[in-house]
Order: sequence, then C-alpha cells, then structure tokens
Amino acid sequence: MSAYPNTSTVCQPLAVLGRDVEVPLVSGAKVTYAALDYAASAPALQRVWDDVAAYAPYYGSVHRGAGYLSQLSTDLFEQSRATVAEFLDLREDDQVVFTRATTDSLNLLAGVLPAGTRVFAFETEHHASLLPWRKHDLTVSYLRAPRSPEEAVAALEEALAGSVPGPKLVCVTGASNVTGEIWPVRELAATAHRHGARIVLDAAQLAPHHPVSVRELDVDWVAFSGHKLYAPFGAGVLAGRGDWLDAAEPYLAGGGASRTVARETDGSVAVEWHRGPQRHEAGSPNVIGAYAIASACRALGEVGFDALVAREQYLIDRLRTGLAGIPQVRVLTLFGEEHPRVGVLSFVVQGWNSSHFSAALSAEYGIGVRDGLFCAHPLVRTLLGGEAAAPSECGAPEASLPGERSLNAIRVSFGAGTPDEHVDRFVEAVRELVTDGAQWSYRTEGGRCVPDTRRA
Ligand SMILES: Cc1ncc(COP(=O)(O)O)c(C=O)c1O
Repeated sequence: MSAYPNTSTVCQPLAVLGRDVEVPLVSGAKVTYAALDYAASAPALQRVWDDVAAYAPYYGSVHRGAGYLSQLSTDLFEQSRATVAEFLDLREDDQVVFTRATTDSLNLLAGVLPAGTRVFAFETEHHASLLPWRKHDLTVSYLRAPRSPEEAVAALEEALAGSVPGPKLVCVTGASNVTGEIWPVRELAATAHRHGARIVLDAAQLAPHHPVSVRELDVDWVAFSGHKLYAPFGAGVLAGRGDWLDAAEPYLAGGGASRTVARETDGSVAVEWHRGPQRHEAGSPNVIGAYAIASACRALGEVGFDALVAREQYLIDRLRTGLAGIPQVRVLTLFGEEHPRVGVLSFVVQGWNSSHFSAALSAEYGIGVRDGLFCAHPLVRTLLGGEAAAPSECGAPEASLPGERSLNAIRVSFGAGTPDEHVDRFVEAVRELVTDGAQWSYRTEGGRCVPDTRRA
C-alpha cells in the first residue's frame, strides 16, 4: 500500500446508483457488483437521480404550453443550456444543442458542414467520430495511427498543408475509449486553425474525467453523451459555433425547428426555420435528459475537477501497479504506458481469449468489464499488432471459442463513483484467473462466452 498516494489527499468516491447492487455468481453465491465499464455507460450520480426525481412531478412540455408546468419546464430546459455552456466554458455566442448522444451530435455536425468540406480524422477514432463524414458531399481523409502526440500533430500539419483550399474540419477525440490516453487537443486545434480548418472535439470520454474548456482548447465544437457523464436519461450535447449550424437545413424537419409555416398560393408550403439551437432540435425535446446533464455538470463542478482528477489518477496508479505485477497481462497503448490517461485501460492476457476472460470475471467474481473491439476496430487491430481479427458487429464480441488466441481485448474503466475496493478486487481476480485458471467451464452461445453448469 505504501506505493500509493496518501488517501487523505484523495476525495471519496461520489455516490452513484447501483453501488450496493448484488449479483449472482455462477457458484450460486452473491457479491456486490463491481461496475468497471464506465466508458460504455457510467452509473447515474445519486445527485442527478435526486434532482430528476424532484423535478419529475413538475414535468411538462417545452416551448409549447401556456400552463405553469410547461413554463417551468421550458425555463429549466433553457437554464440547462446555460449550465452546459458554463461547464464547457463556451464563448459568448456559441450554441448548445441537445441531442441524443455523441454519435447523434457528430452526425448532426456532419449534416451542417458546407458542401465540399474536407474532413480529417485519425483512424484511431471511435466509429462515432470516424464514420459520420462518409457523405456524398464531403471528402474524408483518414490519418494513420500516430505513435506519439508529436507524431499526431506532425501528421495533421502535413495533411492540412497538402490539402486544397476550401472548408475543412478536423475531428479528434479528447481521450481514447480504448487506451484512455489523452490526445494533444490544444496543439491539434492550433494546427487546424493555422491552416484555416475548424476542429470538433469528441469529448465522450474526456468530459466525464477532465475539465473541458472550449476557450482554452480553442476548439470549434465539442460533443459528449449524458450517459457517460453520470446522467443516463437519453440526452447528449453538441456545442460550439453557430454559423454553420444556422446556415444549414435543420437536422430533423418538424415542429420546434420551424418558426413559421405558410401555405403559398401555388399550393406549396413555405417554411422559416429557427436560428439557434432550436433549429436542430425538432420534435419534443428531452427535457429530463437535458436537466440531468445540467445536474451532472453542476455536481462535478461543485466537487471540482482537481479533486476528481486526483482521485482518478490514484485509482489508475493502483490499477497499473497491480497489473504490472502480472507478467501475462499486456496493456494496450498508443503513446506509451506513461502517457497521461483517464480511467480507461485495455489489455490482453497471454493464452486467454478475451471473451472467455471477461466472462469469467463476471461469472466468478461479479466484475463487469467489456471485451471486443470497442467500436474502434482500426485502433484495436493496430494495438493488437495486426493479429487477424474476424469482422464483428459494432459492440459485439468476436465469436470465438474459450481458450482460443486473443482476437480482441478486455477493457476496464471507472470514474467518480468507483471505490478503491473495486479496483483491488479486479486486480486480484485477474491474478487468480491467470494463476489458477477459470474454475468453471465455458461455452460459446450466441457469440458470447457463457459459463457451463459444471466446474472446470
Ligand atoms: C470516444 C467516443 N466517442 C463517441 C462515442 C459514442 O457515444 P454514444 O454511444 O453515447 O453516442 C463513444 C462511446 O463509447 C466514445 O467512447
């Protein structure tokens, strides 16, 4: 324990829902669930849940009703925008558009880019920031996986310097959903702007762990998801410059986005669309989702990112020290193991199939991690050293038999609600599985590894 920082300097885990949930093990015993898949979806903060519960009786339509609850809900919805703007340290005239999640936000942005925009994205991106740009009126250049932050900046510099004039967008992730490594966003933004390009930050994995200041990073847009920010109520955010958003057709056509609709004498219908965030929020807005995000922003802001980052770093150190003592574990890294990261770490275990390993962590230890290619197939394949991996559905693990060579990886991820004990239990479980093997037999069923009813 002496290798770890003095715990008195590290804040306590924040209260989250599900922290006492017991789950059954294959043996029939029950244990408290160790949720170590925050990178996929983080548990709701208790505070968010309480805020939503307090508001729920007052729930009403937004921007539509004359009644008291509609007025109140409209006010809360608009205040939520202001809270998000503060959380992201937006510029004065930036917009906050509520979406469904990061994927939705980036697809929205792809739809408002001027025709002919050239998009530059590293092949290491999550599919949500890799794929929305493949549209007929855009050109996308994928940059090879860099092996250092400096290489990333140099690769972007070279790509932009050699590009033809016209609108350009760079898309970059703030923290990798595979390695947790933090990308040199400020430097990439400076490079983009030097060449007249704009830049969007995929902050899906960064925002829950680190402060994101749009002004300081000097990015043009930022996208994140409520369900990764302890606010799992179906909302996300696209925030940033309004000019391209206002110049484009609405993301969805319908009520809420339209200011006036009039029947013309020739029988057609003329529409005047809103300017501002409403333009891209057609339909009844998700007021609870937006309110939950604002609540999470307030809660994290009140605790303060200094304390949150310190706590997370303490858990990362604890995890890395533990795994370093298990030689069969290989941690996947693009920029080197010492590079700053958030609480996301992927690894493979020598001699183990990753699906088998994570199934055993769940069935025998009550620990929830994720295995697969994490919707970042090109990156994980690069990190696995080009080992042949059969194509898999996004999000689905490779269908391979227990004991086969690893075709995919295991990801452990945590955050503000994670107690030390979960990280320790995880390290101990990895050590035991590596040393003693799984205690139960496993078979492949429906593409997943599941425990058999008999012991190994
Ligand atoms: C880096 C990154 N970007 C985008 C996404 C997509 O987020 P969502 O599924 O909430 O749309 C994820 C989800 O895992 C992610 O990790």
